[in-house]
Amino acid sequence: MLAVMVVVVLEFPRALQKCIFDEVQSQAAVVRAAPIHPDSPPKEPRARAQADHSGRRASPSPPYGLSVTRRRSHRDVAPPTTASPQPIRIRSWISRESDNLSEAGKERLEAAVEEALRMVSSLLSVNRVLGPLLLSRDINKYCKFLWRNSTSVNYNRCGRAHNNYRTETCLDVTIPDDHLAGCDIYAEADSPRRTELRPEGAGLPDTDFLMYLHIQATDKCRAEPKVLAYAVHCQTDARGRPVAGVVVICRDGLAGATYSHQATVQTVIHELFHALGFSKGLFHTWRDCSSTSPAAGGAGCSPRGRVTHPDGSGQMRIYTPSIISALQEHLASADPELGGPLENQDVPPGGVSSHWESRVLRGSIMAAALGDSATVRIDPVTLAALQDTGWYTVNLSRAQSLVWGDGEGAAFGSLSTCQDKASSFFCAGSGFGCHYLHLHKAECQTDQYLEGCRVYKPLENRSECWKEENSRWPSEEDWRGEIFGFDSRCFFSSLTRQNQSEFLFSSSYVEGRCYRHRCTGPNRFQIQASGSEWVDCPAGGAIQIKGYQGLVSCPDRRLCLYTDIVPPSHDVSALPASTMSGPFDTLTSAQNGTWSPLRPPTELTVAAALGIAAAVCLLAAVVVPHKKSCPCGVRIHSAPEDHTDLQQI
Ligand SMILES: *[C@@H]1O[C@H](CO)[C@@H](O)[C@H](O)[C@H]1NC(C)=O
Ligand SMILES: *[C@@H]1O[C@H](CO)[C@@H](O)[C@H](O)[C@H]1NC(C)=O
Ligand SMILES: *[C@@H]1O[C@H](CO)[C@@H](O)[C@H](O)[C@H]1NC(C)=O
Ligand SMILES: [Zn+2]
Repeated sequence: MLAVMVVVVLEFPRALQKCIFDEVQSQAAVVRAAPIHPDSPPKEPRARAQADHSGRRASPSPPYGLSVTRRRSHRDVAPPTTASPQPIRIRSWISRESDNLSEAGKERLEAAVEEALRMVSSLLSVNRVLGPLLLSRDINKYCKFLWRNSTSVNYNRCGRAHNNYRTETCLDVTIPDDHLAGCDIYAEADSPRRTELRPEGAGLPDTDFLMYLHIQATDKCRAEPKVLAYAVHCQTDARGRPVAGVVVICRDGLAGATYSHQATVQTVIHELFHALGFSKGLFHTWRDCSSTSPAAGGAGCSPRGRVTHPDGSGQMRIYTPSIISALQEHLASADPELGGPLENQDVPPGGVSSHWESRVLRGSIMAAALGDSATVRIDPVTLAALQDTGWYTVNLSRAQSLVWGDGEGAAFGSLSTCQDKASSFFCAGSGFGCHYLHLHKAECQTDQYLEGCRVYKPLENRSECWKEENSRWPSEEDWRGEIFGFDSRCFFSSLTRQNQSEFLFSSSYVEGRCYRHRCTGPNRFQIQASGSEWVDCPAGGAIQIKGYQGLVSCPDRRLCLYTDIVPPSHDVSALPASTMSGPFDTLTSAQNGTWSPLRPPTELTVAAALGIAAAVCLLAAVVVPHKKSCPCGVRIHSAPEDHTDLQQI
C-alpha cells in the first residue's frame, strides 16, 4: 500500500490545472439582494412598500433593496414576464478595460463565444422579462447613509451620497452608466424632494443575461500558468436569477499554436453555467417551481433553502429532485441518497464546492477537471441542476451522454470501490491502455481530484486514434497492425505481426492500440487491423486476428452504443445545441467594441434587484514535480501525462 502511494505521488501530471474558485469568491464583495417575498405574487412588494410609508409595516424591512433602488414606478414590482419560457438571450459585452486583441485572437474569441452562447441558449429557457435589462447600483457604494426611521417617508432611501462614488464595477469591469439604473438622494427624511445623483440608463434591450467579457492578462492569469478563464456573477433579479456576470478570458489563452476552439467553447460554457446559477454562493437561493405552471412567470415558486447535505459517508451532495433522478437514472440505482456529489478537493471539511465530484461525474462540463475537449460532456446531471435552480426551463433531452459510470450503481466512484477492480472505468497500476471513450490511447494515472483512484488518461502525444496524422511512423505501427483514422478507436491489445522476431517479448504486452471499427448493431462491432479483414469483435470478449499473434479485447458497452460519442472533427454535429437553428442569431461585431446577438426588439423587462457576487471560478495551474520514467524497454509513449487532459475550471 505504501509503495502504491509513492507511485501515486510520482505520477502526478506535470502541470495540474487547479480551480481556485473559492479563493476568488471569498475576495469578491458580496451584496445581498433584497428579494421580493418568494411566495408572493409580483404585485405584493409594492403594496408592502406603501404600507411601510403609512407606518403599518409589520415585518422587518431589508436594510436596502427594492424599495430603495426601484424608485421609478415601473420598477417597483417584480417584473412581468413572458407567459411561457423562451430561450435565454445572453448578450456579451466586451469590457472597456479589455486588452486589444490581434485579429486572429478576436476571431478565435468571437467564434468560441458565439458557439458557447448558442449552446446555452438552446439549452436554457427563461420567462423573459419585459423591457430593457437595467442593472442596479449598489446602494452601499453610492450612499453614505440611509434614512433609518421606519416611520419616515424616505425610510431606507439614501440621505447623503458618497463623495467619491464614481460608478459600478464587477470584478474589475466598469459597468457602463447606460446599463445602470439611476439613483437619487433624499436630503430630508420626510420630504419627497430628491436630487438625481445619476440618471437612469437606457438598459439593454432583448437581454436576459449580460455577460461582460473581460479579455486581459490579469494578475490571476499571469500568476499561475494555464489560467484560461474565470467568472463571477454580479447581480440577481428579484427572483434571485443572476442577470449579469463577468467572464474573464486570459488573453494569452487565445494565442498560440496549440489553441483549441472546442476547449475554449467548453470553458466559456463552464464559466457561464457558474454565473447562471451553478455556484455554491447560489445553491441556497435555488427555487422550487414544481407546483407552479410556467405560465405563472415564476410567481408561486418557493425557496428550496439549503440543498447541500453530506451523505452517510460524508460526501457533500446537492439534493434536489431533478438532480436525484438524473443521477439515479445515470447510475441505474434507486438509492435515495444519490444527490449530486460535489468535489471535496480544495474545500474545507463540510464545505461546499461549485463543481461535481470528479470521480463520479468525470467528463461533465461542471467537473473541476475538464479533460481533452473530445471527452467533455454537457451531461444530464448538470442540466438537471440548472433545471432545479427554478430560474430555467431546461431541455433535458439535449443532454450529451455521460458514458462515465453509466449503469454502474450507487457506489460508483467512491473511494472504497474505485480500487477493487469492480468497475472497468477505473484501473490499477500504471499500465497503458485506452481512455474510457476509446477515442484515445491512455495511461493509468491519478491526480489530486481522484484521491488515489486511477483512470486511463489520454497520452500526451499521438493519443488520438481518429487522427490520421498520428500514424506518422508507419514502420513502428506495422508490427502492431495499428490504423489511425476517423473510424479508428482504441483497443486493449497485445497483437504483434507473426514473424516479428525482433519484438518477441512484446507479444504478451497489452497496451492501447488503434484499429478501425464499424458498428453492426448496438454494442456490436467489427474491427480491422492493418492488412486484416473486418472481424467481429464480441463486446466483453477477446479475439485473435489472422496474421497476428496475441489478442484484442472488445470493450463492452463503450462502442456503438452512444451515437454522440464521435471524434471532435464532428463536434459541431455531435453537440446537438450548436446546430440548433431557429430563434438564435449569430453574434455580430458592433460599434464600441461590443457585440451582441441580433434580435428583434421585444417589450420585456428585467427588474434587476441589488445583489453582487457569487459564482467565481478561476482556472489556474499547480505545477507538480514529475519524475515518472518509461516502465518498459519498448519505445511507446514515455511521457504519459497529458497537459490537455486536465483543464480545471
Ligand atoms: C421617527 O420619525 C417620527 C416621525 O417623523 C418621529 O415622531 C419619531 O420620533 C422618530 N423616531 C426616532 C427614533 O427618531
Ligand atoms: C428539446 O430538444 C429536442 C432535441 O433537440 C428538440 O427536438 C425538442 O423540440 C426540444 N424541446 C423543446 C421544448 O424545445
Ligand atoms: C510530446 O510532444 C512534445 C512537443 O512536440 C515534446 O516536447 C514531448 O517530448 C513529446 N512527448 C513524448 C512522450 O513524446
Ligand atoms: Zn469552475
